[in-house]
Amino acid sequence: MLEQYIQAIEENNIVSKTDINGIITFVNDEFCKISKYSREELIGKNHNIVRHPDVPKKIFKKLWDTILSKKIYKATVKNLAKDGSVFYVNTTVIPILNEKGEILEFIAIRYDVTKAVENSNKLLEKEQELENLNLTLEERIKKQTEQLKKLNTNLEERIKKEVEKNREKDRIMFQQARFASMGEMIGNIAHQWRQPLSELDILLFNLKKSFFIQNDKHKFTIYYKSSQKVIKRMSQTIDDFRNFFKQNKEKSQIDVQKLIKEAILIIKETFKSNNIKIIFNIKNSIIINGHKNELLQVVLNILNNAKDALILNKTEDRKIFIDIKKEKSVKIIICDNGGGIKKDIIDKIFDPYFTTKHSSQGTGIGLYMSKKIIEQNGGAIDVYNNCDGACFEIKL
Ligand SMILES: Nc1ncnc2c1ncn2[C@@H]1O[C@H](COP(=O)(O)OP(=O)(O)OP(=O)(O)O)[C@@H](O)[C@H]1O
Ligand SMILES: [Mg+2]
Repeated sequence: MLEQYIQAIEENNIVSKTDINGIITFVNDEFCKISKYSREELIGKNHNIVRHPDVPKKIFKKLWDTILSKKIYKATVKNLAKDGSVFYVNTTVIPILNEKGEILEFIAIRYDVTKAVENSNKLLEKEQELENLNLTLEERIKKQTEQLKKLNTNLEERIKKEVEKNREKDRIMFQQARFASMGEMIGNIAHQWRQPLSELDILLFNLKKSFFIQNDKHKFTIYYKSSQKVIKRMSQTIDDFRNFFKQNKEKSQIDVQKLIKEAILIIKETFKSNNIKIIFNIKNSIIINGHKNELLQVVLNILNNAKDALILNKTEDRKIFIDIKKEKSVKIIICDNGGGIKKDIIDKIFDPYFTTKHSSQGTGIGLYMSKKIIEQNGGAIDVYNNCDGACFEIKL
């Protein structure tokens, strides 16, 4: 039975025996197979023939300490085969004692765990790789984030600069628009004054006549008072225009109907001399909150554009219709019969510096400014053609 036991163990295990000094006295076939040594090469040699240099000395010390104190030693050991290949064995070293309890020899029973160890080593390697990758990933993400941050601040900086530039551009444009409308205004004043000036001319002649020729005090007083009235009217005109150029930053209550009337008052004479009729008969006052002069400027821009279109189109019966609607929002609708705007440019008319007029006639900022003004105040401005002209809709 003992023989059979031994056979059973030897069949599946790597078995060796050494004497008390570690000299090999027995090896089974499995030992020879795994160590690549022949039996003859092993018997009589120290067991450290299969020792791997990687295994630290203290492991062997522990082995010897254990088995010399007659205890069983168990460990997984890395070994070196004759051909230099590495194998791992799960090792149990059992000291064999005689009847007196003295160590006779050692039996080592092992089984091959190379595959398992290699697999777990590979796993460890992969884990390490992964860890390294993770580390570098973190590093890389950090770097990328850093770069992105830099880019972001640069971008912010650039956007800030661009916005600043745009603001500056708009400021210059506002200025240009002001100058342009100032030119127009002077034209309007000239028109507005033509009539009273000729009236004054006649009045002065009559004054002179009543004083020097007729010597009529009563007539003189009448002419004098009339002259004063005319001068007052002229001075009022100046005041109206001056008001328009006043910068009022504060929002105020605006009566839209009154504002349209004011706009008409400013351009009335110029339009009259160009045979343009303005049709506006809204009686209800609609009050909104906003910047009065800005809105006035927008209305004037649109009216002046309509005037230009009517003149250019040589429209016979020149008309401008102004309508105010109060629905969800307040709408000012200004339509003319000047032929309308060509389809291929209608999308561009609000662009800065877009104009179809000669450079002495237009700069192309009127509508750009108008749109800016209206949108800055939360409104919208729209354009479309009706049957015989263009319509501008200001939504407030
Ligand atoms: N009522 C209209 N009928 C036909 N075309 C129009 C009308 N209003 C505007 N336009 C077109 O839109 C263009 C742009 O108008 P915008 O007021 O912005 O500039 P402008 O009148 O050319 O110059 P300015 O800056 O002196 O006003 C005009 O040149 C014209 O071609
Ligand atoms: Mg214009």
